[in-house]
Amino acid sequence: MVASLGVRFPGLILINNFFGRTFSRFFSRGWKRLSLIFLALAVTAGALLVGVGVRAQQPVTISFLLRAVEADQMQGLAEQFMAENPDIRIEMVRGPNAADAVENLYTTSFLLGDSPYDILFSDVVWIPKFAAAGWLLDLSDRVSEADLADFLGADVTAGLYQDGLYRMPFRSDMGMLYYRTDLLDQVGLDPPETFSDLIAASEAIQAQTDVSWGFVWQGLQYEGIVTNFVELIAGYGGFWIDPDSLEVGLDQPAGIQAAEFMKTVIADSITPPGVTNYVEEDSLRQFENGNAAFLRNWPYVWAEANREGSPVAGKIALKPMVHDEGQQSAACLGGWGFGISATTPHPEEAWRVVEFFTSYGPMKQFVTEFAYVPSRRALFTDPDVLAEFPHFEQLLEVAETAIPRPPVGQYAQVSDILQRYLSASISDQMTPEAAMQAAAGETRRVLGVES
Ligand code: GLC
Repeated sequence: MVASLGVRFPGLILINNFFGRTFSRFFSRGWKRLSLIFLALAVTAGALLVGVGVRAQQPVTISFLLRAVEADQMQGLAEQFMAENPDIRIEMVRGPNAADAVENLYTTSFLLGDSPYDILFSDVVWIPKFAAAGWLLDLSDRVSEADLADFLGADVTAGLYQDGLYRMPFRSDMGMLYYRTDLLDQVGLDPPETFSDLIAASEAIQAQTDVSWGFVWQGLQYEGIVTNFVELIAGYGGFWIDPDSLEVGLDQPAGIQAAEFMKTVIADSITPPGVTNYVEEDSLRQFENGNAAFLRNWPYVWAEANREGSPVAGKIALKPMVHDEGQQSAACLGGWGFGISATTPHPEEAWRVVEFFTSYGPMKQFVTEFAYVPSRRALFTDPDVLAEFPHFEQLLEVAETAIPRPPVGQYAQVSDILQRYLSASISDQMTPEAAMQAAAGETRRVLGVES
């Protein structure tokens, strides 16, 4: 058949001859050749299967944004998680160190629709806005009330919006007053209780020792100045916004006194003029380098200022913030936790990350290493934690009574108003009274309440 076709189509004979020769040569080399082919096929198939396997094992990336200082500190836990969970890669994107600058970045990314972040690493004050916008998953089905009862009440409350839970607490925070025990000894004074004590002790130390400054705090126009102010206004017996009635207290006497205090300590050179540019880290550096007697800051300062090689290690103590005569100390409630983006393609993996960071062991590790305040109550009295930081027992009491910032959906706006006017007041562009009146009026307009 082939031959006859070959007669009509000579080319076919050539082809046929070629294959014929090849085949016979092939078979003449016998089984050896055949087995080589099988081997090649097996290797190819194997490689393909491995390829598919590798693709299937590519870890899912769970990403979130956070302040750069904090990313450094959380890296160790992230690596531990990834070692235990090779199917998940945690990507921590390093953001600015001002809390509300991070909030702005998250807001922009969520507004654009498809946020690149699977997790919202959230300040204690962000949830009403993010949850109301529908940007977060409700986590309430994933945790029981009994589980939540292990956390500080205020930290949990900060994650609630309507009937849902949108944030799992990781660490709490509360503003404290740090002081130099050696300097107070030198001038023969007790730790201050009131605003006037603080001013008097600062002046004595500035006059009698070579320490330049009395009191350092955070005065940049950002969220930090608001947290300082919350402590001052409460220490004068007032309030910023009543969350139930939405009454605004900024232009009442306590509000004006609080703004005046900030301005007076700068004007009287108790606080350096540069405070108008300070975030937490700047004020900490001044205190740590031995340039200031008192510092308002968060509890993590304890570990940092006492670290080996710190000029003030072993010479510091902390106490609740000072207050006006006849009033009480107030600590502003701070803290951070985890929400999950409503648009993440990987909610299960994101939850595993959240569950890890907020569970007892990892939280304990983080707290013991950096002196951050835990969100789980039992860690305040955990013997290992107390062995490292005996003052945590006192912090639990402060934590339970810390003053939250108002949980309103317009929080970012009302905070921005307060930041602007406090900043105008401490940089001498307005009197404290005029600044607080203007701030109160704008705040009422944003909240939709009558002036
Ligand atoms: C701390 C607090 C946070 C606060 C911020 C202000 O990080 O934990 O709640 O908003 O400081 O700077």
